[in-house]
Amino acid sequence: MAQETAPDPVALTDYQRDVASWWNNRRDDQVNLALGEVDGLYHHHYGLGPVDPSVLATAADDRDEAIIQEMHRLETAQADLLLDHLGSVGADDRLLDAGSGRGGTSLMANGRFGCRVDGVSISEYQVEFANQQAEAHGVADRVRFHYRNMLDTGLATCAYRGVWTNETTMYVDLTELFGEFARLLQPSGRYVCITGCSNDVMGRSAAVRHIDEHYICNIHPQSHYFKALADSGLVPVKVLDLTPDTIPYWELRSQSRVRTGIEEPFLTAYREGSFRYLLIVADRP
Ligand SMILES: C[S@@+](CC[C@H](N)C(=O)[O-])C[C@H]1O[C@@H](n2cnc3c(N)ncnc32)[C@H](O)[C@@H]1O
Repeated sequence: MAQETAPDPVALTDYQRDVASWWNNRRDDQVNLALGEVDGLYHHHYGLGPVDPSVLATAADDRDEAIIQEMHRLETAQADLLLDHLGSVGADDRLLDAGSGRGGTSLMANGRFGCRVDGVSISEYQVEFANQQAEAHGVADRVRFHYRNMLDTGLATCAYRGVWTNETTMYVDLTELFGEFARLLQPSGRYVCITGCSNDVMGRSAAVRHIDEHYICNIHPQSHYFKALADSGLVPVKVLDLTPDTIPYWELRSQSRVRTGIEEPFLTAYREGSFRYLLIVADRP
């Protein structure tokens, strides 16, 4: 197996430094912290599935908390769906969480498969937070988070049974990213992506531009994913349009105490069809 060589210092462009600062400055972000405090799994992604109607009927004093718990249930269901698509993963396998945020999905993967998980993020704050979570969950020997650029991880070639990105691809060039994943994946290894992407036919709507500006990201058109996968030798084996399943989360979030104002552009973009929430599964032959 090839040797691991950590890029030191991590090479970042000016744009990537801005992205890192954006995430480093979200230490008190209630939309993530309040939800993570429910059970100690901290996510930085959105939710999936129907909302339990009893939540909105909760008495006023308890309603805010009931909504937080329900949003957390939906964001955890989203991560579960992603993990469902990794295929067969054994305790001896190794997985990579590319753009790992506060580490919730990595901890879930280790809990489900018992395997080693590496997470990489360009936010030093997030890496420290996620490693503290791995310690708190008693799995720091199996789940490690690294300050690395997912375009150039320095991690070992062909070492990974599976790689996933959960809402991170809008920060990077897809061809570079999938080229790195093709290098990291074992033969027959699998890549799973959940992402928002724009509708090629409709072009970039005002709502999609609003989301990009809010998160300083660059939402890719849907077709770019499939071109970049093909260019990298990764073969799509399944695509799911999750858009109808994420709308209830956004409707609930817009009634929550942690709403940020970005709920309306998301709902507009999803409802008008200019934005889609996709799950893509691709294999390395
Ligand atoms: C929306 S958050 C998603 C976090 C996590 N995947 C989750 O589901 O909770 C986006 C993440 O992408 C990371 N990111 C953005 N560009 C990156 C890059 N070039 N290399 C590594 N991580 C990156 C950010 O630091 C952040 O952790």
